[in-house]
Amino acid sequence: MDVINPPKGLFTSLFTFATISWAAAVCVSLSVFLPRVLTRGKRLPTPAERGIAQYGKAGDQDFHKALIDGYTNHKDSFFTVPMDHHPMTIVPGKFIDEIKALPETILSFQKQVTARFLGKYTGLGVNDTLVHSVKYDLTRNIPNILPELQDEVGYSINKHIGECQDWTPYPLYHMFLHLVALLSGRIFVGHPLSRDETWLAATIAYTVDGFTGAEKLWKYPTYLHPILQYILPEVRKVHGYLSAGSRMLAPVIRGRRANPEKFQNHNDMVQWIINNSEPRNKDDVDYVTKTQMLISVVAIHTTTMTMTQVIFDLLAHPEYIDILREEIKQVRPDENAPWTKHQIAGLRKMDSFMKESQRFRPPGLLTMNREVQQDIKLSNGLLLPKGDHIAIAAGSNAIDPEMFEDPQRFDGLRFAKLRDLPGNDNKYQFVSVAPDQLHWGAGTHACPGRFFATYEIKMLLSKILVDYDIKLPDGSTNRPQDIAIDIRVVPSMMAQVMFKKRKN
Ligand code: HEM
Repeated sequence: MDVINPPKGLFTSLFTFATISWAAAVCVSLSVFLPRVLTRGKRLPTPAERGIAQYGKAGDQDFHKALIDGYTNHKDSFFTVPMDHHPMTIVPGKFIDEIKALPETILSFQKQVTARFLGKYTGLGVNDTLVHSVKYDLTRNIPNILPELQDEVGYSINKHIGECQDWTPYPLYHMFLHLVALLSGRIFVGHPLSRDETWLAATIAYTVDGFTGAEKLWKYPTYLHPILQYILPEVRKVHGYLSAGSRMLAPVIRGRRANPEKFQNHNDMVQWIINNSEPRNKDDVDYVTKTQMLISVVAIHTTTMTMTQVIFDLLAHPEYIDILREEIKQVRPDENAPWTKHQIAGLRKMDSFMKESQRFRPPGLLTMNREVQQDIKLSNGLLLPKGDHIAIAAGSNAIDPEMFEDPQRFDGLRFAKLRDLPGNDNKYQFVSVAPDQLHWGAGTHACPGRFFATYEIKMLLSKILVDYDIKLPDGSTNRPQDIAIDIRVVPSMMAQVMFKKRKN
C-alpha cells in the first residue's frame, strides 16, 4: 500500500511550529508560575496577613483618607496601607523615640529608599558620601555661599519672571522648578555648568523619570523588572541622564583632581563629594556624578513643591502678603545689601507661614520610611519583623487636635506666636524636628538639607514679594487643588499665577 508521506518541508514546518509553541508555552508558564512557587516559601506574611488592620486596598491610587482613618483608630497599635511598592506598617508617633536612634543595621533608611524606588534599575538611592556632604559641608558653609545664592536669586528671577510691567501669567510649579534648579545648581556644580540648559534639564528630569519609572515597574511582578528596565521609556531614560551628566561633569572633576591642593577648600558640592569619597571613588567620574545627581533628586522637587505651596497659601490668604513684606523691609532695609544669616533668621513671620503651609501640605504624608533589618520589639511588646517597611504618619500627626489647637484652621502666624512664648525661641522653627513636627523626618536621618532649603525659599520669596504683585488669573482666593497620589501631596502643576512688577 502506498503511503502518502507529507512533503518534507511541510512536516518540518509543522514540527518546528509545534515545538516552538510548546516551548513558548512552557517558558511562559515557567516565567509566570516558577517564581511564585520558588518565592512562596520565602515570602514574608504581609502585615494584613499578620492580623494588622489594613486601611485602603491594594491598587488604590490615593491613601490620604486611609492614613487619617488608620491614624485616628490606631494611636497605640500598628496599621498598614497596601502601597504598590510594599505594604507599609504605620508606627504610632509615641514610639518615635524608641526607633529614631536605631542604627542603619537595625532600621535602614538607605535600604528602604533603594527597595522602594528600585534603585537597581532607576539608580535612585542615598549613599554616605551624599549624606555627609549635605549634613556637614553644605550646612556649615551656608554663610559662605550666601553671596552666590543671592546672585543666583537675581539671575533666575530676572530670567524666568523678568520685567513684567503688566499682569503676566506663569505656570508656577514649572517656573519654580527652574528657579530652584538654578539656585541649587549654583552651589552644587557651580557656574557656568549650573546654568547649562542640558545639565538643568537632566537634573530636573532624572527625578521625574526615576520616580515614574519605579512607579510603573511596581505595576508588574518583580521577576519582570530585569526585562522591563529595557522596555519602559522612563527607566531607559534615566541611564541617558546619568551618562549625559557624567560627560558634562567630567572636565570639572578631572580639573579638580589634577590640582587637589588648589581645590581642596573650594566651596561647592562637587568638591565636598570628592573630599568625602573613598579614595577609590575620588577619580570615578560616574560615582561623583551619580552622587551629585542624587542630591539634585532629594533637593529640587521637594523644595519646589514647598515653595509652590507657600505661594498658593499666600494667594488663598492674601492678608499675609503685606505682613511679610513689612517684615522683610524691617529685617533688611537696604534690599540691595548682601543677605546675612542674621537677617534670614529674623524673618520669623515668614518662617512661621512656611511652616504652617508645610503643616497642611508636606510633599509626602509619611516620613521616617525605614526597612527593618532585624526583628524589633517595642516597649509595649509590639513586634516589627525583619523585612517590614515602616513609616510614621507625619501628615495625620500634624493635624491632630492633640498636637495643635484648632488644627484645621490655617494660621500663618501660629508658629511665630508659639515661638514668642517663654522658652520657645528655638522651637517651632521651619527647620525644627519634634514629635509634633515630623515633616522633615526624625532622628539620624532627619532631612539634613532643610537648612539650605530654608535659605533658598526665604531668599526667593523675599525677592518675589518685594519686586512683584501676585494674584490668581481669576482674581479669586481659591487655592489651586492639590493632586493626591498615594501618600504624596502634589501642588497643582498646571495652575498659572499672575505676576506684575511693583513700583517700589
Ligand atoms: C523643602 C524641601 C525638603 C523636604 C520637605 C525634605 C524632606 C525630607 C525628608 C522627609 C527626609 C527623610 C527623613 C527621615 O526619613 O527621617 C529627607 C531626607 C534627606 N534629605 Fe531632604 N527635604 C527637602 C530638601 C532637601 C534638600 C534641599 C536637600 C539637599 C541639599 C535634602 C537632602 C536630603 C538627604 C541627603 C536626605 C537623606 C538623609 C539621610 O539619609 O540621613 N533635602 N528629606
